[in-house]
Amino acid sequence: MLQYENCHGAEIEPHLEALGGLRMAVFREFPYLYEGTLAAEREYLQVYVRSPRSLVVFVRDGERTVGATTCVPLSEESPEFQAPFIAAGYDLREWFYFGESLLLPEYRGQGVGKEFMRRRLEHARSQPGVKFCTFCAVDRPPDHPLRHAGYRPLDGFWVQQGFAKQPRMQAEFSWREIGRAEETTKTLTFWTKPL
Ligand SMILES: CC(C)(COP(=O)(O)OP(=O)(O)OC[C@H]1O[C@@H](n2cnc3c(N)ncnc32)[C@H](O)[C@@H]1OP(=O)(O)O)[C@@H](O)C(=O)NCCC(=O)NCCS
Repeated sequence: MLQYENCHGAEIEPHLEALGGLRMAVFREFPYLYEGTLAAEREYLQVYVRSPRSLVVFVRDGERTVGATTCVPLSEESPEFQAPFIAAGYDLREWFYFGESLLLPEYRGQGVGKEFMRRRLEHARSQPGVKFCTFCAVDRPPDHPLRHAGYRPLDGFWVQQGFAKQPRMQAEFSWREIGRAEETTKTLTFWTKPL
């Protein structure tokens, strides 16, 4: 039986290693192909620890953390995430940013992804003045050499959850891909949903 736990702000600090470890394990897979370090993860994840309005949901199988999902006010995210919204003339205070959804492969397909979404939507809707939520996903060409036969894009799930892709709202992020010595720049496209 899987157990869920909602954590906010400073409550997340003791779980940073578990969260960073999950990001490194799950984002190694296509389409992210991310080669991370725990030190960099700790740094990156401080945004959730700093904000009392953040939410990280952990899911555990006994003692083992097998998945997590994150969200935070867009106004407290880093400038790269905010830039497309400022350029479009939006009021950042009306937006909640949904970060990663991470689940170890053997636990997929049992509704955890939907529960993650439900909990984040409930939290975002409880925040005064927040009217929309958003996330972004990496763009990969259909013929990418590391795209494997079993890969199913999540676009259908996101559409089912009421999100719309915004092809003109994009951000660029750099990270080191597995097997590469240098960081390369990737484009991520935003998806949005009224709450
Ligand atoms: C995103 C993720 C947490 C979803 O978890 P999950 O528990 O398997 O999702 P659910 O079981 O709740 O399924 C949700 C819906 O999406 C569909 N779905 C699940 N996995 C899918 C996949 N890989 N591709 C396409 N659709 C998928 C399911 O069919 C279900 O819809 P249905 O009920 O109408 O059949 C999980 O796939 C994951 O960790 N992926 C890798 C990391 C990632 O890409 N995260 C998103 C960007 S941060």
